[in-house]
Amino acid sequence: MKYSRRKFISFLGKASIGVLVTPPFLISCGNTTNPAPEFKNTSEEVLKKLKDFVLEAIDPSDKDDLLLANGLNYKVIIKWGDKINLTDTFGYNNDFTCFIPLDEKNPKDGLLWVNHEYVNPLFVSGYNYRNSGEIRTKEQVDKEMYDVGGTIVRIREENGQWKVVENDPHNKRITAHTPIKLNWDSPIAGQNVAIGTLSNCSGGITPWNTFLTCEENYDNCFGEIKYDENNKPSRIPSRNGWEQFYNYSPEHYGWVVEINPKDGSAQKHIALGRFAHECCTLYELADKRVVAYTGDDKNNEHLYKFVSSKPSSLKEGTLYVADTINGKWLALDWKNQPLLKEKFKDQTEVLIRAREAAKILGATELNRPEDIEIDPITGHVLVSLTNNKNKNDFHGSILKVEETDGKYDALTFKTSTYIAGGKETGFSCPDNLAFDMSGNLWITTDISGSSMNRADKPYISFKNNSLFVIPRYGKNAGEVIRVISAPTDAELTGPWFSPDGKTLFLSVQHPGEQTKDIKSPTSIWPFDKDNIPKSSVVAITGDLIEKMNKLRQIENIN
Ligand code: FEO
Ligand code: CA
Ligand code: CA
Repeated sequence: MKYSRRKFISFLGKASIGVLVTPPFLISCGNTTNPAPEFKNTSEEVLKKLKDFVLEAIDPSDKDDLLLANGLNYKVIIKWGDKINLTDTFGYNNDFTCFIPLDEKNPKDGLLWVNHEYVNPLFVSGYNYRNSGEIRTKEQVDKEMYDVGGTIVRIREENGQWKVVENDPHNKRITAHTPIKLNWDSPIAGQNVAIGTLSNCSGGITPWNTFLTCEENYDNCFGEIKYDENNKPSRIPSRNGWEQFYNYSPEHYGWVVEINPKDGSAQKHIALGRFAHECCTLYELADKRVVAYTGDDKNNEHLYKFVSSKPSSLKEGTLYVADTINGKWLALDWKNQPLLKEKFKDQTEVLIRAREAAKILGATELNRPEDIEIDPITGHVLVSLTNNKNKNDFHGSILKVEETDGKYDALTFKTSTYIAGGKETGFSCPDNLAFDMSGNLWITTDISGSSMNRADKPYISFKNNSLFVIPRYGKNAGEVIRVISAPTDAELTGPWFSPDGKTLFLSVQHPGEQTKDIKSPTSIWPFDKDNIPKSSVVAITGDLIEKMNKLRQIENIN
């Protein structure tokens, strides 16, 4: 399909200033189309210049560096191994970030949540699977289990620079060793508490200002339970082999986990189903019930939404899975679905084996649904479909879901392709999405390390993973513009705007991932004294971030 920018601009949708569908809880954390107070009185002269402003893209690059478009700069806020208090250090492979100000009136002081998705044992524990016969020790497993999960850290901007508030009482680690309550009335695999959270990929935020962190490729850690045609279970071993030292049930992982930023307490929400959750994006209805969108990032898996039956609940309600062919949300409801009653003994089993239940009901197989964001201008739900190489979808696309009558608890919807990856649009494998205050869409890409920059793969021309923006207004409206290029083997993840629209928090994840020998790493970003790659969270600031966040206001001038 030929990419037509003109068509795409009208497809993007626009709204006049004042019309806004963003739920108020997202506004307080930067995801808003309301201009920040400091931007509200932007002079007409500045806006006129903004109208003529042309954004300069950067070229694809395979350089081991974090390269930025003109008008952007970065500072590392925190990196793997940094101390956050007297006993704890920042974990590995940071993904989702989310910032909540401690006091709504001060956007420059608050709590940052960061996911730690998985570890590269070569750097974390010294275990090297390439050495034949090498066996992981318990000590190595413990190190690996400590470096996953998430971090809460207080950060403050002083003299234009974000810094960690060292030893702040809020600073905490949640790891694969932390006991976590299971928010369900029946036990899961005989327990009401699970040990640890892991494979924490992307996430979300709740209207009551807590963090959501999503357990994605959990089967790498404690394996999986598989069922044969006679419904007989067997245990599939994990890649990491942690179960050799800790016999935790695989059924305790693969959930959406809620973290209270104030005290670090956590709970796993069983009602949202168990699968490789990429993210969890909430919408609050007028009666305070919530709708939670979440995708299963695996080839041929599904898109789900949970609709609560009670205000502010992630327990009471119904989980649905998408039939995108017929535009129907199918209820994963044991009581009212005879097909589910035939296979599973109760609702708990349906939720634990949500993938199987979804397939029984005829849910549509999708090409790795990853991040989900609600467009603050149109209210449409955008879902990244990263790729599905087995189905010859190498570059992925973004799916647009329009709920019937714009109602998020609707049982029917329409879908279309918002934009497709590929040479014409210049990006491949969309993953995380973020909207800024002007409704510009920011997209990170996730070309896998084993395919990137390889002449024998279809990704060679895209070079390193990057951050792109699609402006909605101005001279570049509808273009896909590369603004940040990641270091070698890295992926940019977790884009999150500060509430004043002046900072973009961004994770630089797994630089140097393809390293075979620790003495010659493929990346040494962020170039600290240790000369090894370290995943880090960076603060992106500069004129360009501010311009993009103000851009929508040019609609106000002639
Ligand atoms: Fe962890 Fe689907 O990316
Ligand atoms: Ca991801
Ligand atoms: Ca990814």
